[in-house]
Amino acid sequence: MAARRQADILVVGGISTDFLVQGPRLPRQGQNVEGHLFLESLGGKGANASVAAARLGARATLVGRVGADARGLGLLEQLEGEGVDTLAVTRDPGASTGVVLEMVDESGHRQSLSAEGANRRMRVPDVLAAEERISRADVLLVQLEVPLEVVVAAVHVARAAGTHVVLDPAPPTALPEELLEAVHVIRLNDLEAEVLTGVEVVDRASARQAAENLLRRGVGSAVVAAPQGNLLLGSEGELWLPNLPVDWVDTTGAGDAFSAALCVALGERRSLSDAARFAHATSALATMRLGALSGLPNREQVESFMARLAMSALSGESARW
Ligand SMILES: Nc1ncnc2c1ncn2[C@@H]1O[C@H](COP(=O)(O)OP(=O)(O)O)[C@@H](O)[C@H]1O
Ligand SMILES: [Mg+2]
Repeated sequence: MAARRQADILVVGGISTDFLVQGPRLPRQGQNVEGHLFLESLGGKGANASVAAARLGARATLVGRVGADARGLGLLEQLEGEGVDTLAVTRDPGASTGVVLEMVDESGHRQSLSAEGANRRMRVPDVLAAEERISRADVLLVQLEVPLEVVVAAVHVARAAGTHVVLDPAPPTALPEELLEAVHVIRLNDLEAEVLTGVEVVDRASARQAAENLLRRGVGSAVVAAPQGNLLLGSEGELWLPNLPVDWVDTTGAGDAFSAALCVALGERRSLSDAARFAHATSALATMRLGALSGLPNREQVESFMARLAMSALSGESARW
């Protein structure tokens, strides 16, 4: 078999520390509830996606900003340990490294409060300094934890160089139409779809409506997550991917895994529908552990999961992971 082409993925996005406490229930205002589990991990959507891409075998570069504090340094070391190139991450003495405080109850309901810190102090020159890397990459992945002007600048550089552009619009905010027009693929969940399109996504049909709205406004293709599955709509038509049979624990980070996997497959020059199938399987596996990063699967895990799914479809049995 011919060797796979290695995808070169560039992510411009947020980097934070996630502090997570799980307890029996979420506290009401003014209340304290004693929890039973504490996790501290590397987080932020940019970090999650770049680690996801590296675990899937891509060359992953992250452009972002952390504080000049010890936490920021620790996060950079972790990213490097995952094989992510962090040379284009700047250290800002004027802000602290991004932080997210998360509370999760036993059924997975959560609340979080974040201080984006250095992430929100990224500026256009951060992107321009990485211009050559963005131009060389196969795919640029952007999310919205960094200022919109930074996202727009990165997308401009990518478009001028012929680099593919994937947008994961989280946390959601109104977007300039010129940004949407420059996006090859947008990938979003139901809540984000509602903010951007006004369509309440509850099933496949409403996911299609939201996707149609985004395509009319100029995006090339859209992947909308509905509660029952992911819908891909592009110029070649529609693909519906029902949720896969996994014992899910926590969907946090599963969307980042989806976006990253989509970029990796596109960077390997696979078709969009193939890329969406690969991303769908990757995100299903990413739901099986608490916390965003710990659940991100590697290439081998995704491929053996997909092989099992194909086998069970052929034999008519249902597979469960
Ligand atoms: N069982 C499953 N099979 C396939 N995909 C799943 C499954 N459970 C969750 N997902 C996918 O995980 C993703 C979660 O996305 P999102 O809400 O953006 O997560 P986050 O932003 O926390 O990373 C969606 O694309 C959803 O369809
Ligand atoms: Mg998301």
